[in-house]
Amino acid sequence: MEEDPHNQTHRKCCELPDADTVPLMMRNVHRYLADFIPERPPVLREMEEYAQDRDFPIVGPLVGRFIYQLAVAIKARKILELGSGFGYSAFWFSLAMKGKGHIVMTDFDKQNKRRAYDYFKRAGLQSHFDFKVGDALKTVRKHDGPFDVILNDIDKNKYPQTIDIAADRLRKGGLFITDNMIWSGKVCEKNPDETTRAIVEFTKKLYDDSRFYTSIMPIRDGIGLAVRT
Ligand SMILES: C[S@@+](CC[C@H](N)C(=O)[O-])C[C@H]1O[C@@H](n2cnc3c(N)ncnc32)[C@H](O)[C@@H]1O
Repeated sequence: MEEDPHNQTHRKCCELPDADTVPLMMRNVHRYLADFIPERPPVLREMEEYAQDRDFPIVGPLVGRFIYQLAVAIKARKILELGSGFGYSAFWFSLAMKGKGHIVMTDFDKQNKRRAYDYFKRAGLQSHFDFKVGDALKTVRKHDGPFDVILNDIDKNKYPQTIDIAADRLRKGGLFITDNMIWSGKVCEKNPDETTRAIVEFTKKLYDDSRFYTSIMPIRDGIGLAVRT
C-alpha cells in the first residue's frame, strides 16, 4: 500500500534521533502520533525545515502543541525560556497567548536571536519577546518573575542547577516544563554517560522536591511537567 505523502512530510520534520538507543516501539509510537499533527502556520513549518536541514534540536510539533495546550490551560501571560534556540518553542507560546504576553528568551548564540526576531516579525506575532544573549543561568539573576511557565531546554549537564531557579521564579500553580527527559532512551542504560547521568539526577531531584508535583510525558524525547505547589 502506498504511503500518504502528507504523512511523509510530517515524518520528515518529526523524526526522533537516529540513535540505536531509541527503542523500536518508541520510534513507532512517535511516528504514529506525529502522523496526526495538523498543519502549522507557514513560518512555523519553515522553522521546522530549517531545524531539520541543520540537525538543530527544536521541541518539534508534537511537543509544540503540548506546550501550547499547557499555556492556554493555565492562561499563561509571562513565560521564561532557558535555551530558546532560534525561537521555535517561543513561537508556540506566543500563539497560545494569542500573540500577547511576555516571553523572556535566553540563548548563548546571538545569531539565534536575530533569526528568532526575523521569524516573529514575518509571522506578525505581537508578544513582547525579550531575548537575552548569554548563559541562561546568569541571565535569570535579573529576572525574578513570577512566571507562569518556565521551559527548560539548556545543556543537559546543567539541568540539576535549574530546579532552584524555577522554584524561586514560578508562581504557585505555575509550570516547569523540561525537554529531553528520556534522552533517546539513554536514561534506561546500565552505565549512562555523564550527560545522561545529569538528566537522571535532575529527574530524581525534581520528583523528590516538595516544591513541585512532577510527571514525565513520554512524547517525543520525554517532557517533564512539574507544577509549582
Ligand atoms: C535544544 S535548543 C533549544 C530549542 C528551543 N527550546 C526550541 O524548541 O525551539 C538548546 C539551545 O540552548 C542553548 N543553550 C544551551 N545551554 C545554554 C545555557 N546555559 N545558556 C544559554 N543558552 C544555552 C543552545 O545554544 C541552544 O540554542
